[in-house]
Amino acid sequence: MTEGSGLVCPAGYAAVYLDAVGSTNAEAFERGRQGAASGLWVVARRQTEGRGRRGRVWTSEPGNLYASLMLRDPMVEARLGELPLVVALAVHDAVAAALPPFARADLAIKWPNDVLYAGAKLCGILIEAAVAPEGRVVVIGIGVNCTHHPDVTLYNATDLAAAGYPTEPEALFALLSAAMARRLAEWQAGDFASIREAWLGRARGVGEAITVRLPTREIAGIFSGLDRDGRLLLRHDGGLEAISAGDVFFGRS
Ligand code: BTN
Repeated sequence: MTEGSGLVCPAGYAAVYLDAVGSTNAEAFERGRQGAASGLWVVARRQTEGRGRRGRVWTSEPGNLYASLMLRDPMVEARLGELPLVVALAVHDAVAAALPPFARADLAIKWPNDVLYAGAKLCGILIEAAVAPEGRVVVIGIGVNCTHHPDVTLYNATDLAAAGYPTEPEALFALLSAAMARRLAEWQAGDFASIREAWLGRARGVGEAITVRLPTREIAGIFSGLDRDGRLLLRHDGGLEAISAGDVFFGRS
């Protein structure tokens, strides 16, 4: 594993750029365990054990962006559930900045934190946390499809080059690290209201029929917004249900 940066990130943050690593999330945790300061980005050209949500594999060949940000105690525990929405906004901001203005309308967030282009998944986010003796360590892992995407996934997928906007991972990282610093500062300085409003303004499917796949069942209903904690509100025959985790599909399955 060779290490070097040459990556651009804002003041108060640092970045390491690795040729290959198992998982940037795992590496960020390991560096946190070894005492790295909060605000460390671990970025890799390739991952050999990239991890996705719910134990899925995240295919990680060179050409895409694989980045993880390690933070120490970014927020009081009661508000940590808001973080996925903050991160989705930051990724949306970064990708929007990489696109020409006319293409930005095709970009949307799918609850809680997938970023879609023309309805297809462009980016995945995996947030993991561990409690260490000196406090909670949170790792925000982000994969953005710049030049390729997997053919077989739970959802349709795409990449920036296929969409007509080839973007180098390093250039996207500069936009992402800046957007993340701005959104984290906004979140940490205020309450959830401004994040929630901005998120809703970029979300796909609000007021429309969706299906949420939970580990043991699927529920269909109308996506009726977010509650105060960022949980998805689903209106169905049984009333209004707040959902904290699940895979969202548009329409009724
Ligand atoms: C998802 O399943 O949608 C989340 C995918 C998250 C992938 C990123 S790539 C960088 C970081 N390192 C990992 O091993 N996973 C995340």
